[in-house]
Amino acid sequence: MDYDVLDKSLADRGRLRIEWAARNMPVLAMIEERFRRELPLKDIKISACLHVTTETANLARTLKAGGAEVRLCASNPLSTQDDVASALVEDEGIGVYAIRGIDSEGYYKHIRSALDFSPHITMDDGADLVFTVHSEMAEMADSVIGGTEETTTGVIRLRSMSQEGALKYPIVAVNDAMTKHFFDNRYGTGQSSLDGVLRATNMLLAGSAVVIAGYGWCGRGIASRAKGMGSRVIVTEVDPLKALEAAMDGFSVMPMEEAAKIGDLFITVTGDISVIRVEHFNLMKEGAMVANSGHFNVEIDLEDLEKIKTSKRTVRDNVDEYVLPGGKRIYILGEGRLINLAAAEGHPAMVMDMSFANQALCAEHLVKNRGKLEPGVYPVPEEIDSYVSRLKLDALAVSIDTLTEKQKKYLASWKMGT
Ligand code: ADE
Repeated sequence: MDYDVLDKSLADRGRLRIEWAARNMPVLAMIEERFRRELPLKDIKISACLHVTTETANLARTLKAGGAEVRLCASNPLSTQDDVASALVEDEGIGVYAIRGIDSEGYYKHIRSALDFSPHITMDDGADLVFTVHSEMAEMADSVIGGTEETTTGVIRLRSMSQEGALKYPIVAVNDAMTKHFFDNRYGTGQSSLDGVLRATNMLLAGSAVVIAGYGWCGRGIASRAKGMGSRVIVTEVDPLKALEAAMDGFSVMPMEEAAKIGDLFITVTGDISVIRVEHFNLMKEGAMVANSGHFNVEIDLEDLEKIKTSKRTVRDNVDEYVLPGGKRIYILGEGRLINLAAAEGHPAMVMDMSFANQALCAEHLVKNRGKLEPGVYPVPEEIDSYVSRLKLDALAVSIDTLTEKQKKYLASWKMGT
């Protein structure tokens, strides 16, 4: 078996950490048990490009239990947990191509290695696999049954491919499942982004001015968690509806040009490019800290910051100090890459359980519907979404009410008013 990981002697540590994550992934465990009995992915080759974490390891094991042959590469050069990559190679016989801190050339080489057994399913987090298949290995697309996409940025990319008629196979937008983005994007990103900032800086959030760029599900999550820790939260937005929501959620809303002068900490989660630019760095206070939690490292204009800096040094793990003309210092966290995975461990297993249950069930759905779906971006089937929420409630031992016959009749009738 081919693979490329940092050091296989790290496998013992990785194994224990994977087991620790599994304690909080009961839904995935139930699916794994059924997959082991029913083998719905028998003889299916899956290339997965995901953050190589303890939670992803549990997903990879589930896919393998279902009969799939799995290859895994990283979806970000800084998110790989090397011990986990080693344990997957040693214990599960999964071909992993991932090394933390790899350069761009090595990153794409790993993506090609994960693809070069001609997969039936691509499982993406950011659409780099789909992009590579379509741009470099187009002949491979004919044998792909379909793909899944984990994140908002990837779904946006795929929708634009589909609109241009460039997409050659069906993709299920796992991100858009309610049991994914309501929990993973909001509570996962909310907690893990601050976790990353705190591990990198050890700053005090209480009393700090925290500027959140973007009030999608991730921005909402970070804003509410920062508020809970006593920060003064400022939101910047381009969408009037989201800005209104942020204002009514009790946050200050203003353009980045204003917020830049006030913030102690900035976190971008817009999914867009060049959100924090030189003009903003120039307005920032001495010692301002800047992080990104959006998928790609394009939200902060780091190349331009490099051009205007007078000096730069790494002052702690994941903290680079840039000195600007005049002596002001700005701190960039995690090289502007996803701060929750660069400086912490990503979302907790408790939420990844639902995201990855959706991934496993959508892989099964693609196999069941082999040949029936036209190229395009598809929602997660409603049955899968509600099945995952029911299993999660059961696992949490939370019971809910059921509608009485009278209530069902009332809801179905348009004749009953006051
Ligand atoms: N994305 C965010 N957090 C993650 C995690 N813990 N594992 C895999 N992908 C993630």
